[in-house]
Amino acid sequence: MRILVAGATGAIGLELVPQLVAAGHTVVGTTRTAAKAELIKRMGAEPAIADGLDAPAIRAAVIDTKPDIVIDQMTDLADVTDLRHFDRAFATTNRLRTQGTDFLLAAAREAGVKRFIAQSFCGWTSGRGGESIKTEADALDSDPPEELRRTLDAIQYLEDAVTSLANPEGIVLRYGSFYGPNTGMLSPAMIDQVRRRRVPLIGGGGGQWSFIHVEDAAAATVAAIERGKPGEIYNIVDDEPADVSEWLPTLATLVGARPPIRVPAWLGRLFAGEHLVSMMTEVRAGSNAKARQELDWRPAHPSWREGFAEIASRATTQHAA
Ligand SMILES: NC(=O)c1ccc[n+]([C@@H]2O[C@H](COP(=O)([O-])OP(=O)(O)OC[C@H]3O[C@@H](n4cnc5c(N)ncnc54)[C@H](OP(=O)(O)O)[C@@H]3O)[C@@H](O)[C@H]2O)c1
Repeated sequence: MRILVAGATGAIGLELVPQLVAAGHTVVGTTRTAAKAELIKRMGAEPAIADGLDAPAIRAAVIDTKPDIVIDQMTDLADVTDLRHFDRAFATTNRLRTQGTDFLLAAAREAGVKRFIAQSFCGWTSGRGGESIKTEADALDSDPPEELRRTLDAIQYLEDAVTSLANPEGIVLRYGSFYGPNTGMLSPAMIDQVRRRRVPLIGGGGGQWSFIHVEDAAAATVAAIERGKPGEIYNIVDDEPADVSEWLPTLATLVGARPPIRVPAWLGRLFAGEHLVSMMTEVRAGSNAKARQELDWRPAHPSWREGFAEIASRATTQHAA
């Protein structure tokens, strides 16, 4: 099939494009800058230059490509460092998820695209608290911390816009927190922060996260082309929900650091903000049962434990060298 990947050069695009090419698809990948066109060519795809917030440019990329399928992987998170001002850090990504989704969907409809697959997130977006692992049927957080509101609204907008369409048929993939090549998680910078004990365990770390290796996220996306059901949302997460009280100390051990500093929730609220305290203490993980069943997909890295260990051992070897 002919596939347009909007946002082909990010953490997920760099895994997805080669997997699509290997599966026999013809791929056109977008980037904003001509400088990254070569990178797209090296992955076996054809580059198209377009900013997702420039309606005529994104329309031209879609119309010229005439794809059967559009996969939207556009986010603008590469330069994000300060998550204390979360909505501010996500402002352009939120525009991509609202205005950008509208531009891309309109172009896809005009070009006669059959299927539209969009990136969403599985994690802090779900309702907080409770014992259960969240499924796609559970509601998103109806009362998120103030600092997350605009970002959650943008995610909700994208999910509604994509899944309510018949033409093209839409599918949403809620990826868990990425780790693996080209992600911030377990990057040299993050490992350095953990080694310096600058990533504290707040309020007992009762929050539960869902991780996903980017290779597995890409494989699930390839599976969604063939087997995803129109109008559906899928959690693309690994098999093992990760308590913050477990994954953070485990990561510290893996990279040879002392255990993380423990900070009470009230102090965390002061220096990090209510939303980051909530992410460490209240959020809930997602279940991948629906994706396993309907997409016939299995993560090759079923647990973050082994996945983290694999990456950390490589980083530790490099550190020692
Ligand atoms: N589920 C998750 O945990 C999740 C999801 C997404 C990202 N992240 C994390 O966020 C960090 C950065 O992500 P990333 O490496 O994917 O980079 P990114 O800056 O978020 O870029 C992703 C893709 O979107 C494109 N893009 C950005 N702004 C655009 C715009 N205005 N118009 C059109 N395309 C645009 C980029 O293309 P060009 O720059 O080539 O134009 C790139 O191909 C990483 O640590 C990653 O792991 C995590």
